[in-house]
Amino acid sequence: MQIKGNTFVVTGGASGLGEQAVRDLVAQGANVIIMDINHARAELLIKELGSQVYSHGITDTTSESLVNEALDGGIANFPGSALVGAILCGGILSPKKDQEGYGPDGKLTSYSQFKHIVTVNLFGTYNVAQQVSQRMLNNEEMGADKERGVIITVSSICGLDGIIVAYGTSKAAIAGLTLPLARELADHGIRVMNIAPGPFNTPILKTTDIVAPHCLFPRRNGESSEFSKLVLNIIDTPMLNGSIIRLDGALRT
Ligand SMILES: NC(=O)c1ccc[n+]([C@@H]2O[C@H](COP(=O)([O-])OP(=O)(O)OC[C@H]3O[C@@H](n4cnc5c(N)ncnc54)[C@H](O)[C@@H]3O)[C@@H](O)[C@H]2O)c1
Repeated sequence: MQIKGNTFVVTGGASGLGEQAVRDLVAQGANVIIMDINHARAELLIKELGSQVYSHGITDTTSESLVNEALDGGIANFPGSALVGAILCGGILSPKKDQEGYGPDGKLTSYSQFKHIVTVNLFGTYNVAQQVSQRMLNNEEMGADKERGVIITVSSICGLDGIIVAYGTSKAAIAGLTLPLARELADHGIRVMNIAPGPFNTPILKTTDIVAPHCLFPRRNGESSEFSKLVLNIIDTPMLNGSIIRLDGALRT
């Protein structure tokens, strides 16, 4: 899928892995619609990166209407540029601090925490994937493979290896969505891929007391640029579809 001149949605694009994807997509000539609850940081990025980046305002990915408005606004802002991709990084690791219980440390994960994290991570991901793919159906077929779009979701090795009740379950579900969604969208020329990162140096790690172990090799945490390189590679490689890629330096939690 061609990056230059086309439009991509990046949820969670104001920070961490999503922010780096925004930077690298813009560097390759793409237009980017950031959907993030942290609109202030998105505005700083727009100031820095310029008119190739758009944010409609505070966009909670769990809201059907806000996502719809952000897509309408973003598409109108980039006339003549097709919406061909979505990188769905928006997510949370820990419950809000004012909610009781955190899972680890002897406290059980409460139902409200579980619901909150699954809602943001899983439902927020599907809400955007659904609305984006619905719009991609109208794209002209592109290239030799007649592609219409590519959707990249983000799970976690916590989901695949089974740790942290609410977060791990939400991420396992996102990983589980990959193949069914790829099958549903295949006839329409839209691919779906999932990246399952190990620990990466981003602000999300500071939202929890859990200390992530380093990867086996390289013996360190991942960097956002390594995540973003993989994103660009997936966009560029039509044969990558319906799979979960672990990006974890051989770490098994
Ligand atoms: N950093 C890691 O170690 C790691 C490991 C595995 C998976 N992940 C996943 O990668 C994704 C990106 O995380 P990150 O490390 O860049 O963290 P981050 O905290 O830097 O970025 C997450 C972004 O998502 C946004 N967000 C949160 N809830 C939202 C909502 N309801 N609507 C819209 N935006 C929302 C936040 O404002 C933030 O900008 C997350 O889904 C995370 O679970 C991260």
